[in-house]
Amino acid sequence: MCAAKSDSLNITDTTLRDAHQSLIATRLRTEDMLSLARAIDEVGFFSVEAWGGATFDSCIRFLNDDPWERLRVLKAELERTPIQMLLRGQNLVGYRHYPDDVVEKFVEASARNGVDIFRVFDALNDIRNMKKAMAEVKNVGAHLQGAISYTTSPVHSVATFVDMAEELYSLGCDSICIKDMAGLIMPHDARDLITGIKKKADVKVCLHSHCTSGVAPLSYQAAIDAGVDILDTAMSPFALGTSQPPTESVVASVAGTARDTGIDLLPLRKVRNVCLDLREKYDSLCDAITGRVDSDVLIYQLPGGMISNLVSQLKEQDALDRLDEVFHEVPRVREDLGYPPLVTPTSQIVGTQAVFNVLMNGERYRNVTNEVKDYVLGLYGRPPAPISPEIRKMIIGNELPITVRPADQLAPIYEQMKKEATEQGLVNREEDVLTYILYPSIAPSFLRGERQPEAIPEKAAAAPAGVAEIPRSMEVEVDGEIFSVRIVTVEGGSVTAPSAAASSARAPRGDVAGGVKSNMQGMVLKLMVERGGAVRKGDTLIVLEAMKMENPIPSPRDGTVSEIFVDAGDVVQNGDVLMVIE
Ligand code: CO
Repeated sequence: MCAAKSDSLNITDTTLRDAHQSLIATRLRTEDMLSLARAIDEVGFFSVEAWGGATFDSCIRFLNDDPWERLRVLKAELERTPIQMLLRGQNLVGYRHYPDDVVEKFVEASARNGVDIFRVFDALNDIRNMKKAMAEVKNVGAHLQGAISYTTSPVHSVATFVDMAEELYSLGCDSICIKDMAGLIMPHDARDLITGIKKKADVKVCLHSHCTSGVAPLSYQAAIDAGVDILDTAMSPFALGTSQPPTESVVASVAGTARDTGIDLLPLRKVRNVCLDLREKYDSLCDAITGRVDSDVLIYQLPGGMISNLVSQLKEQDALDRLDEVFHEVPRVREDLGYPPLVTPTSQIVGTQAVFNVLMNGERYRNVTNEVKDYVLGLYGRPPAPISPEIRKMIIGNELPITVRPADQLAPIYEQMKKEATEQGLVNREEDVLTYILYPSIAPSFLRGERQPEAIPEKAAAAPAGVAEIPRSMEVEVDGEIFSVRIVTVEGGSVTAPSAAASSARAPRGDVAGGVKSNMQGMVLKLMVERGGAVRKGDTLIVLEAMKMENPIPSPRDGTVSEIFVDAGDVVQNGDVLMVIE
């Protein structure tokens, strides 16, 4: 219908959301956003992505900033520039599916407090998980941007994504975003996809990518040539690496052409100066690795954040030498699970299962996390390709996956949760109810004003040459509770020694008759049995949290629990005896 139009290119600046999420773990504080927003408002961006994604979680967990208050003060500064948010469909800004009444209230409150444009996506591209949020965005009269989670696999192609875009358009989307969260899109695919969508739908198309693989600036050029309407960029001090291409460079590259953005470089310079100061302030949080081109991303098609996650998981299990095996196992697990795009939360689910499969020495799926079970049960939505009966049986036995939309099984909870929060004295404004529903374990202390903002760490002095830097402590999070764990160095490696916050494990090592051993390093989340209780082979004895996933430890035999050596909160090592079943 419309070939490359000689229209001006629009820019969505992501500095206030994705850029600091990608480079400094979403730690930009509200107080530091104000002068930045003031400068940004002079520029003339299509929109500024400033809310949603991980910012909500980070605000209450780490910064003691009220996310709703942040939205209101940004709205006050951004008089001319629309505020855009990233919404994870039925997951909103959390990590699980919420009932429809919560989705309704959340979208309504977000619009009321200042969100003008909603970018809605689903990790599995299951549109059923997006429909409720999208309908509500239309109801409140905001701009609805439907997003495609871009990935590559034998069941994904330009044609399947064009079909999805068409469906999103038919559901009333005002614009379509190609959300390439891993920086995987190649220039020719960007060109074909944008051209393909524009042939089928008279709709604005946006490209969102990351520089992780180094290809994004090339794909942006191809997108510009193909007539893309909007590009996502970040101000240069917070651009490149795992973040977006630089705003200033993209603006300059089309200046004076038919695609001129109409943006002057001078107001951008003001924004840049504010960003330079912030970059300096938050410098200690910048990991040098996030600034580099990661060519492993191109070989393994894994998002950059996922690779660093796998490295730290393997380090935790003292098995970093098996990284190559894990790199090869990830695509196999992804294939087994029907090729989900790798984005929160599927990247964690697939990655952790791949690590387990490698650590179990070829006995794939001997250890299955609860998250993988839920995924196969259909509780995250419909996988892009069907899961084979053999794999399904290995993971959920004879249980059958649900075929309905996951949220269809969720009863309304808003009024009941509101009552609960009000009785605890947590509700000053209606929005506090939503904060409570989304983060029930940390919201009470946050809403009572009992949390402290995390300090920005001092920039570490460079270690003397030849001396490896060993972390002295780390924080382990279990269901919102942070346990601080000391690291003590012993001969032949390091072990974690829990500090006073977490109780010390009493688990013996070595062989104990009837003993059930842990086959990984982790923390005891729940004990499912009591001493003296009868168990059957396969019953869950303990749920262990390892690598941020829940791992049920099954009973190897029928019998009676005669001894339990661990408590909830204990840190156990691979080989520790957890209990005795006689
Ligand atoms: Co992104």
